[in-house]
Amino acid sequence: MSDMDEKGRILNSRVLKDNEGRVIDYLRISVTDRCNFRCFYCMPQERVHFFPSNDILRYEEILYLADIFIEMGIRKIRITGGEPLIRRNILFLFEELGKRERLSELTLTTNGTRLSEYAQDLKQAGVRRVNVSLDSLNRETYKRISGIDDFERVIQGIEASKDLGIKLKFNVVAMKGINSDEFSDFVKFGIEKEIDIRFIEVMPQVYNNRIAEDLFVPSKVIKEEIEKVFRLEPLPASDPSSTAALYRIEGSVSTVGLISPLSHPFCSRCNKVRLMPNGCLKTCLFGKEGINLKNLLKKGMTKKELKKEIVKAVLKKPQKYYLNKGKVNLVMHRVGG
Ligand code: 5AD
Ligand code: SF4
Repeated sequence: MSDMDEKGRILNSRVLKDNEGRVIDYLRISVTDRCNFRCFYCMPQERVHFFPSNDILRYEEILYLADIFIEMGIRKIRITGGEPLIRRNILFLFEELGKRERLSELTLTTNGTRLSEYAQDLKQAGVRRVNVSLDSLNRETYKRISGIDDFERVIQGIEASKDLGIKLKFNVVAMKGINSDEFSDFVKFGIEKEIDIRFIEVMPQVYNNRIAEDLFVPSKVIKEEIEKVFRLEPLPASDPSSTAALYRIEGSVSTVGLISPLSHPFCSRCNKVRLMPNGCLKTCLFGKEGINLKNLLKKGMTKKELKKEIVKAVLKKPQKYYLNKGKVNLVMHRVGG
């Protein structure tokens, strides 16, 4: 018999559903809040506050929790950070998750600096798709954004992954006066490399509230800029929970996606929850940090009890996010994109 909560909602079904009827089948696991970059829209330039290492989920804990989520209906896992590939022994996690047969997809978001070293092993572990953050094609601008002069290494990583047949996507955070003169260059680059490009509206977060406001470029403007050079045809989303408005570029196999967390929030299609490096479960990007699963594990909670807590947290997933100016509590390098 099912366990019920006080309102009679089922707490142990095999499909994870929230109060809005959204099916949650996608888990993003941020494996570290550390990064070898200091992208100014993501991290403060000095005195970054990182979780103490004792608070970080160990791989065994991540796998234990991932298995629970898989039993509850999660079918897609993305590993993110911080920069996931700088965490020691990260391949172990990919190799283990790659063995989970009920997962239909295991993916990664990375800044690309370690990709050439890892591409072969990631592919071997079962990673078929990788998102690379690439905010400029100009070495100087790239350095200005990320704080590090590593553009060449990222390009090498991209080439290495492509040669192995890993499907790549570029994530470009659009920023007025920083890379806004490069939008059509990115598309050209995507066409040449046969890689999809996703432009993301810059989001406010704890460290960059003001910056994000000053740099904001709405997706509509990004599209207009691209259309000065290329013809874009709207595409139906292949995945109904896709956060991007997709376009085919005439004469190319690559697509352009516009991700508009501010101008067109995609909350009604949201199928995600996020596990933070310290074990907090975040059911909404801009929402409060929810239950801490590491603490519950430490308390000795059984699997059944943990599942109940997860279902309860998911039922409280906000209908949509509210971006009150000056009140954003998102810390991107902890949560991951
Ligand atoms: N706004 C939009 N995207 C962001 N990312 C990090 N911080 C922000 C922000 N403030 C993106 C990164 C990367 C992904 C992890 O999230 O560029 O592509
Ligand atoms: Fe690192 Fe990504 Fe944040 Fe840049 S955006 S500092 S690469 S976590």
